[in-house]
Parts: sequence; C-alpha cells; structure tokens
Amino acid sequence: KAVEQLVGVGSSVPATFLTNHDLEKLVDTNDEWITTRTGIKKRHVLGKDETLGQHAALAAQRALEMAKVDPKEVDLVLMATSSADDTFGNACLVQAAIGASNAVAFDITAACSGFMVSLVTASQFIRSGTYKNILIVGGDALSRFVDWRDRGTCILFGDACGAVLMRANPDPAAPGAIIGMSMGSDGTGHKHLHCMYSGSGAKPLTEGSAPSSHASYANIYMAGQDVFKFAVRTVPTVIDSALENAGLQKESVDWLVMHQANQRILDAAAQRLGLPPERVVSNLAQYGNTSAASIPLALDEAVRNGRIQPGDKLAMAGFGAGLTWAGAIVRW
Ligand code: ACO
Repeated sequence: KAVEQLVGVGSSVPATFLTNHDLEKLVDTNDEWITTRTGIKKRHVLGKDETLGQHAALAAQRALEMAKVDPKEVDLVLMATSSADDTFGNACLVQAAIGASNAVAFDITAACSGFMVSLVTASQFIRSGTYKNILIVGGDALSRFVDWRDRGTCILFGDACGAVLMRANPDPAAPGAIIGMSMGSDGTGHKHLHCMYSGSGAKPLTEGSAPSSHASYANIYMAGQDVFKFAVRTVPTVIDSALENAGLQKESVDWLVMHQANQRILDAAAQRLGLPPERVVSNLAQYGNTSAASIPLALDEAVRNGRIQPGDKLAMAGFGAGLTWAGAIVRW
C-alpha cells in the first residue's frame, strides 16, 4: 500500500511590500509595538494587476521542478485559500496556468489551517490508492479583506503562495513521509475570527426593484486576545496528538514548522515542545501572517537554505478561523 511522500516545495511572494513604518502613516501604530507584540517587520501585498493565481502557479512550478514531475503527471491540484481571485475557486486557474491537463482541481477553505487540512486530505487520496501525484498550493491575499483602518488586524497579514508536491510511494521508510497527523474544528469559536459578507449583496430582490449587479464586501474581524489564547492552547495539543499518531515522543522533533501568526505564539509552542529557538522556523519578520501560505513558504525557505536536512523530523501545525486546526509529523 502506498504512503505519501513530499518530494518538492516552492513558493512565490509579491514584490510590493509595506514596512511597519509605512503602516505608521495609515493607522495609529509604531514599529516598536508591532515588533515586540508580533515579530513582524514587513508584509508583502499583491501589486496592481497582480493575481493570487499568478503566484500560486509560480509556487506550483517551483515545487514540480524540485520534484522532477511533469505537470501532465499531476492527478490532483488542491488550492487552499480563503481569498481566491474567483469566488468560484482558484485551483482550476492554477491547473490551466501550469498545464496540469490530466488533473482534477478544487479548492479547500480553512483559513490559516487550509494548507495543513489540504495536506491531510491529499494523503487520504494517496493512501486509498486513488491518486499518485498531488499538488497542494496554499495561498492567500488577505490584503483584499483587511480593513486598513483597523490597527488591530492590518499590521498582521501579508500575501504569498507556497506549494508542495506529494507523491505515492510504496516504501513507508522513504524520505518526506507524513508519519502522524491530527485535525480539529470548533465552530463555536467563529465569533472570534471571521470575514463575513455584508453590504448590498445581502439584499433580497423585492417586487418592483430593478435587477442590478451588486457587490458584496467582507472585512476581517478578529478578537486578537481570544485567538491568541486559542492558538497557545491548541497548537501543543494538535502536535501532541500527531506525535501520538506517529508513535513518537516530543523529544524526537527536530524542527517546528508551524503557521506564522505571531512570534509569541511560536515561542510558546516551542517552549512546550522543549525546542530551542534556533529549531523554530520563523519568517514572520519578512512576511507577516500569510494565512494558508505561511507553512509551505516557511518550509520552502528552510529546505532550500539547507536548514532542514534529510531525516529531520518536523512538527507542523496550522490554526485559524473556523476555528480550525491541523497538524502533521513529517520525516523529511
Ligand atoms: N499599534 C499600537 N497599538 C495597538 C495596535 C497597533 N497596531 N493594535 C492594538 N493596539 C493597542 C490596543 O488598542 C490596546 O490598547 P489599550 O490597552 O489602550 O486598550 C493594546 O494595544 C493591547 O491590545 P491587545 O489586543 O491586548 O494586544 P495583544 O498583545 O493581544 O496583541 C495581537 C494583539 C498581536 C493581534 C495578538 O492578540 C495576536 O497575535 N493574536 C492572535 C492572532 C492570530 O494568531 N491569528 C491567527 C489566525 S489568522 C486567520 O485564521 C485568518
């Protein structure tokens, strides 16, 4: 029976960025507050006429190149996003852009947990013997939904895409294997973090009114402290449960590669695992919270710069709106 093997990673980030000093001109904030409370120094945002799909396709192509897999060999394209270029979905746009003409393509929405949820979902298609090559892209452009007047949220988010290529391998000892996983959701926590539609889109078409096209708008709402508490409580639990699923103790973990939301959340999770700071992959300073992109983006950088080495065990965890969370232990 085949198991999944991660054989390629890639990422793409827009060139345009906003520093903390740039944000000082928009809202009542300052570099010192943002740096000490979050660890973020700058965040990239889509430039004029740029699309999420363009970066998703670039990230995907880079993952395919590393994996030495032809786009035509891809059986499934999963795009984890909550901010698609097209509300009907982004995955088919990526499929067309990279020429994955034999693939099934669809989106998965689970906010900042989207990439990990997609990773676990993809593994089910491998383990059932349904597909052999799956491309998973995590990408978000939350700059589209940020209220640039809300200093509590606009300082946090950035736009990016990351991708991995998952291949079926009959050898469970092969490198890149997912050896444990865990997922969870709590819809009662939805009130703490959401991006609900509002505006004229909610109006019914009443008798006598002329049919017209109308736009809906959504803005991110976040009760920061509640989400913070949820994150520091849940991340260690999901990692513990993925470790248990892998039959491993926390002492076996070499790297923490988790959702990049706040440096203080990364530090708390690392402390709980007994990992020193140099074993925590963090790129918050450069990119901020890139939602579904943050884990594959961090993984791509750490693999390409040689920090993560073959055989290293990675504890991966995503958490976010829903509320949702998902974790996996990967032997690289
Ligand atoms: N600049 C300056 N002051 C600010 C800013 C800002 N950008 N934002 C808030 N403040 C002020 C507040 O108004 C408050 O002032 P007050 O004491 O006078 O009322 C004070 O700073 C403290 O505010 P808190 O909200 O208590 O600050 P906290 O330490 O909790 O940090 C933060 C806020 C960074 C948002 C933190 O709560 C956090 O990281 N939460 C988790 C976010 C997260 O993990 N999201 C992940 C999921 S995202 C997804 O799924 C899409």
